[in-house]
Amino acid sequence: MLKVDKLNQYYSGSHILRDVSFEAPIGKVTTLLGRNGVGKTTLLKVLLGLVPSRTGSISFEGKDLTRAPSHERVRAGIGYVPQGREIFPRLTVLENLQMGLATRPGGTRIPERIFEMFPVLKQMLKRRGGDLSGGQQQ
Ligand SMILES: Nc1ncnc2c1ncn2[C@@H]1O[C@H](COP(=O)(O)OP(=O)(O)O)[C@@H](O)[C@H]1O
Ligand SMILES: [Mg+2]
Repeated sequence: MLKVDKLNQYYSGSHILRDVSFEAPIGKVTTLLGRNGVGKTTLLKVLLGLVPSRTGSISFEGKDLTRAPSHERVRAGIGYVPQGREIFPRLTVLENLQMGLATRPGGTRIPERIFEMFPVLKQMLKRRGGDLSGGQQQ
């Protein structure tokens, strides 16, 4: 369970997240909807520790992560799929995919369903991520 309680976040003087509270149970899909600029991406960045919150708390599976650095949140089991092309342009396609397994035991293989969904990746494993087309990067 992800628990967020009365989260407040600011960009300088702009108060973006105002007393945001919700719970997201494991095994269910929780969807966040809102018009452009309302703070959806900001909330995800706060959950990952990429942007600091001023007040409020975040816990995941009973562990308080409010002040934890990003790598601890990832180790606790939180992942983030950014909306843009935020891959590692100088790493190969294979290395980019392996980054997603960084918190799994060594030797964990890339799930075959990734290549079933995106067959082109299999032919491009050795290519630098930044050399793929924009759509392929996405
Ligand atoms: N790095 C930033 N510095 C200052 N203001 C920002 C920054 N990122 C986003 N904002 C502002 O915060 C508000 C929320 O943005 P964002 O979380 O990206 O919205 P959404 O993802 O819901 O479209 C917007 O008004 C946006 O202009
Ligand atoms: Mg957004």
